[in-house]
Amino acid sequence: MRFCKKPWKHTTRNKKRRIIEKNVSLKSYNTFGIDVRADWLAVIESEEQLLTILDDLPGMPKLILGGGSNVLFLNDFRGLILLNRIKGKKIIRETDKDIIVRVKAGENWHELVMWAVENNYGGIENLALIPGNAGTAPVQNIGAYGREIKDVLEQVTAIDMKTGKRTVFSNRDCAFGYRHSIFKEPENKGRYYITEIDLRLTKPPHPLYTEYGSLRKKLQEKNITSPTIKSIAEAVIEIRRSKLPDPAKIGNAGSFFKNPVISENKFRHLISRYHGMPHYRLNENRVKIPAGWLIEKAGLKGYREGDAGVHEKQALVLVNYGNATGQQIFDLSEKIIRIVREKFDILLQREVNIVP
Ligand code: FAD
Ligand code: EPU
Repeated sequence: MRFCKKPWKHTTRNKKRRIIEKNVSLKSYNTFGIDVRADWLAVIESEEQLLTILDDLPGMPKLILGGGSNVLFLNDFRGLILLNRIKGKKIIRETDKDIIVRVKAGENWHELVMWAVENNYGGIENLALIPGNAGTAPVQNIGAYGREIKDVLEQVTAIDMKTGKRTVFSNRDCAFGYRHSIFKEPENKGRYYITEIDLRLTKPPHPLYTEYGSLRKKLQEKNITSPTIKSIAEAVIEIRRSKLPDPAKIGNAGSFFKNPVISENKFRHLISRYHGMPHYRLNENRVKIPAGWLIEKAGLKGYREGDAGVHEKQALVLVNYGNATGQQIFDLSEKIIRIVREKFDILLQREVNIVP
């Protein structure tokens, strides 16, 4: 093997054995549960380890993996998986009103949310139970129940994998949009390894965000008239558990597609045919339509081809019932895109990162 000796260069044989493994199954490293293999896998626990590997293996194809909850592997990966497990967090600034917490990229996102709620730091409670690593959260600007990470993010620190240089991106530099950031742009994809993020979290009295329809409804159902960050996190967790499949039981990567944004003209045309169509107005000329509704209306909710399927409770989520291949899930997504386009003249875009 061409790469066999290189990773061993600057480390002892035993130490290297601990961080780089050969021919590894990725089934337990992606929440779709796709059974592919990687030529190499390194568990990255520090920046130093990362820099050594980048130095030793400049030409090898690499893929950063966090919790694997937003990827679909189509094939075996011919290269090195960098499994991000750089851990730690500390409060680096504090005032009467807020704190800045610096979080290493390999921390689990939901555990971070629970830590914040338990310590009465506000700002990320609406984002409870989103799987994955804290350091991946800025990549697609994770969002749920009316909030996005961009609302609390101060800066992102990353290593440029081309040069090995440390780069700091301010919130503005990240160019956040709906499920988008600079890290998803084609020229940057796979280039920056995020190592830590800084978040600004509030101290009481916290601004609270309860306007999202299903969250408001859940709080009413629970007779919560004076919500707290804790009761909001609990309500969000209940909603999510009631409709999203648990990846530990059934393979999935959350929403497979983004919610499309359409023009006012197209919206008027559709709403005149489908009076109850849910929608969210972004401005005078742009309206967001739930892709889950479009897929359901196209008759595909619960649709199944072998072990690849559309979830029965949330049509935006594609699932692996057991032994689906990445290609089978991808083919199903192609079919959904085609049928939705034929019926509504709307082109769905994938949210999940496809690894060819
Ligand atoms: P991975 O899948 O490991 O990686 C995703 C992408 O980021 C890949 O391209 C990878 O190469 C890259 N990447 C990973 N780590 C780094 C790093 N350190 N530096 C640079 N690039 C990196 N998302 C939402 O926004 N809102 C939701 O409500 C939501 N709900 C979900 C529910 C379920 C049940 C599931 C399974 C997923 C859901 N998601 C949601 C999607 C997913 O949880 C998020 O996108 C999450 O941030 C992915 O984190 P991860 O560590 O698992 O990423
Ligand atoms: N809907 C249907 N049929 C379905 C699914 C949804 O008609 O099968 C309708 C619902 O009735 C509702 C509307 O679509 O009127 C919106 O549904 P929901 O509140 O469940 O949210 P979503 O638009 O399907 C988005 C995010 C989720 C996020 C939730 C809550 C995207 C692509 N998805 O889903 O994020 O958790 O809102 O904020 O924006 C993810 O990104 O992986 C993800 C799960």
